[in-house]
Amino acid sequence: MNDLIIKKVSNEDEIPYDLLFLADPSIEIINEYVYRGECFIAYINNDIVGAYVLIKTRPFTLELVNIAVKESFQCKGIGSKLIYSAIDFAKKENAKVLQVGTGNSSIYQLGLYQKCGFRIVGVDKDFFRKHYKEKIVENGIECIDMIRLSIDL
Ligand code: COA
Repeated sequence: MNDLIIKKVSNEDEIPYDLLFLADPSIEIINEYVYRGECFIAYINNDIVGAYVLIKTRPFTLELVNIAVKESFQCKGIGSKLIYSAIDFAKKENAKVLQVGTGNSSIYQLGLYQKCGFRIVGVDKDFFRKHYKEKIVENGIECIDMIRLSIDL
């Protein structure tokens, strides 16, 4: 695969909403994250192939939200590279902890974060039923609880 280049978004017009929607069906929640945080875009040969947003949650703590890889580029290692790039950026920002949250039904994402060094630290019960209007079902499982993971930097 050609080189992956990851850049921080400097202009609101560059935000790749189509990609961010892959990670979160709620425009309200995406807008809140983008407003509060910094968006990063991954390119291969000038084509956008992935994105993620980092937000500050507490002193010395960042959260990785809305990570997504374009469907035709998934399962090629780009998601892992985005996660490692978020870890590097968080370290440069002097964060001590990087958090991430995913649905109880996101079996493969739960595996991916743990492969990248994250550990499960808690469960935000009923998060998706409380904050999303539509019922979400993945892998035949209703997405109800947010599984919280984090990595010490
Ligand atoms: N089912 C099972 N395992 C899968 C898989 C799939 N569909 N796709 C990838 N994997 C495995 C890979 O084999 C790899 O494991 P390995 O390193 O042991 O081989 C691991 O997961 C990492 O895969 P990678 O290629 O780095 O991830 P990716 O580029 O596909 O990106 C996501 C991962 C989650 C960002 C991407 O699937 C995506 O954009 N999904 C939709 C948005 C989303 O769910 N975001 C996360 C919200 S919490």
